[in-house]
Amino acid sequence: MSDNQKAVTKFEMSSSHAIMPRIVIVLGMVATVVTILYFTPMPDHTFKSCDRPCHALDWPMICRIQLNVEMYQTMSGVCKDCPNNSSHCNNKYCASADGKTRGIITANRQIPGPDIQVCHNDIMVIDVINKIPGHNLAVHWRGQPQNEAPFMDGVPMITQCPILGYTKFQYRFRASSPGTHFYHAFSDSDRADGFFGALIVRQPDKLEPHRKLYDEDLKDHVILLSEWAGELTSDFSVQDDKPKSILINGKALSDIMSAVSIFKVNKGSRYRFRLAYTGGNFGCAMELSIEKHLMKIIAVDGKPVKPYEVSSITLNKGERVDFVLKADQEVRGYELRVTSKCRGYNVKGLALLNYESSLLINQKKDIIRNVEPRNFDTLTCSSEIGKVCVSDVMAFDKMPEELQEVNRRIYLNFDYVHVDKKEDTYVGWKDKKYRVNNISFTFPSSPILTQPEDVPLSTICNDLKIPKKCENEETCECVHVEHIPIGAKVELILFNAAADDQEFIFHLHGYHFHVVGSRHFEDSVTMDDIKNMDDKNELFKRNFNSPILKDTIRLPKNNALGVRFKADNPGFWILRDEKSGGYTRGMDVIFQVGSYKDMVSMPSGFPSCGSFVGPDFFLI
Ligand SMILES: *[C@@H]1O[C@H](CO)[C@@H](O)[C@H](O)[C@H]1NC(C)=O
Ligand SMILES: *[C@@H]1O[C@H](CO)[C@@H](O)[C@H](O)[C@H]1NC(C)=O
Ligand SMILES: *[C@@H]1O[C@H](CO)[C@@H](O)[C@H](O)[C@H]1NC(C)=O
Repeated sequence: MSDNQKAVTKFEMSSSHAIMPRIVIVLGMVATVVTILYFTPMPDHTFKSCDRPCHALDWPMICRIQLNVEMYQTMSGVCKDCPNNSSHCNNKYCASADGKTRGIITANRQIPGPDIQVCHNDIMVIDVINKIPGHNLAVHWRGQPQNEAPFMDGVPMITQCPILGYTKFQYRFRASSPGTHFYHAFSDSDRADGFFGALIVRQPDKLEPHRKLYDEDLKDHVILLSEWAGELTSDFSVQDDKPKSILINGKALSDIMSAVSIFKVNKGSRYRFRLAYTGGNFGCAMELSIEKHLMKIIAVDGKPVKPYEVSSITLNKGERVDFVLKADQEVRGYELRVTSKCRGYNVKGLALLNYESSLLINQKKDIIRNVEPRNFDTLTCSSEIGKVCVSDVMAFDKMPEELQEVNRRIYLNFDYVHVDKKEDTYVGWKDKKYRVNNISFTFPSSPILTQPEDVPLSTICNDLKIPKKCENEETCECVHVEHIPIGAKVELILFNAAADDQEFIFHLHGYHFHVVGSRHFEDSVTMDDIKNMDDKNELFKRNFNSPILKDTIRLPKNNALGVRFKADNPGFWILRDEKSGGYTRGMDVIFQVGSYKDMVSMPSGFPSCGSFVGPDFFLI
């Protein structure tokens, strides 16, 4: 054996010696991992609350929630001695409302439906089980852009088939937009009848721009307001759809009901409250104030704003406002009042702010407030003394500079015409046909996002493509789709040209927009006048200095409004007429952003639906 060979053998021997311990170490590690995995509980598949303090380094959680949608009743048997014994009004499954019995539509037999409180980027897995025979529905997750899953936006016949009675639809989406939001049945009347709930998306303290302004952000400090009528409003035969009172978290004061919602605070702390106006049949603006307390507004529609201190807040159906309340008054109870006046009705809501105790030991004299009342109104009014409007409030983040120029401008004229009394007024509420640019919106016969091949092209329309049947008609009923190229910088000019004093509210799905301009006209003007003024740059002076970001906006009579957004979320997004009853009254518009190849495709097995016409020679 040569020296060389010896060296090689030695080397082989020594390496084979070293392999054994390595194998042992690797096996040991594998065994450890297997043991750990074995003893780690798998996520359970039942209802699970994702409510927890949010930390930047934590993994997102999968939140499994089940919403059983049923016809139900206020003051059902489980309410026992409510309202005589007010503790019974808090019994499980007791929807007490104003203490009067009426039909309701609920998720899990409660009003509001279960709270969904999660951390930013958690994955929602929500089973909606429709237990109402003969009634179909869909659920919209307001404030969530659904970038990854546009087919989870909950718009029937646009992003999905409505959920039929006896069937289940599982919504899956990422809670990608932090803030105060809520979920609700897409249909306005179902929403007014009780199917809504909070969707609160918290983020880690480090990322929360106004975290230093408050000490507590409690689960119970969510305030959901809704108009309350005496009867089921979904019912076509409804006689009594007028608002009777205002529910605050499902409870209202009335002649027989004294059990109202209570919010607890400790003296000396600062609390973040999350306020949302979830719905109602009339959708009139509501004003909230809290006896002897000021409110510092920190976010609107889930997006942070530069803080602003006010004594009352006026908000519209669909809007959210976060405010900070400093508990600096004498230890006792205070009234939280909500009022709403419109269309001849004047309704009130009441809840209590109760001081539990004092945290301050050497309490100096109580602060005596002597400030001018100041109201925050989510209207785009021009500033006046004692009022702060959305046009006065600045977004916390700047508007992206690129949005100072736009390359797609869409003018939308909202009005209505009276339909021929003889022909079309077979029911009272059908005597007006609402329209956008003379088009009265109707839904396609299959969801346009998920079954484009089943939507007849002839039913789709816009200003440039009016179907043949509508030539020489003053109103055209069709599926109004406006196209927006992906990445376009868009400006919408909305104008309320309604003949009476009606105010409209619009909610844009898929996006938040910057409110860059508004103008009220004293005399009636037409859309042509508005376009002419805009061409000459005289419509309004646009504000690019951190204009507020919203997803819901109120449009009073004779008002023009300019809003901007970057079309970076491909899909079919509805600009929803918040005040329509049912699915639509004709004043909605769909924005198709991008082409089908830009859109995320739906998972396999996604439900489909549509019209049926048998083959030509069937049974003939
Ligand atoms: C509550 O008390 C009143 C008067 O005592 C009575 O008429 C009513 O039936 C009671 N209500 C219930 C739900 O027990
Ligand atoms: C109300 O109901 C609770 C629970 O059933 C009971 O403990 C309490 O005594 C009742 N109060 C009155 C005033 O009847
Ligand atoms: C819309 O309808 C009105 C009549 O209601 C008509 O005067 C107007 O020219 C129409 N506009 C368009 C763009 O067709």
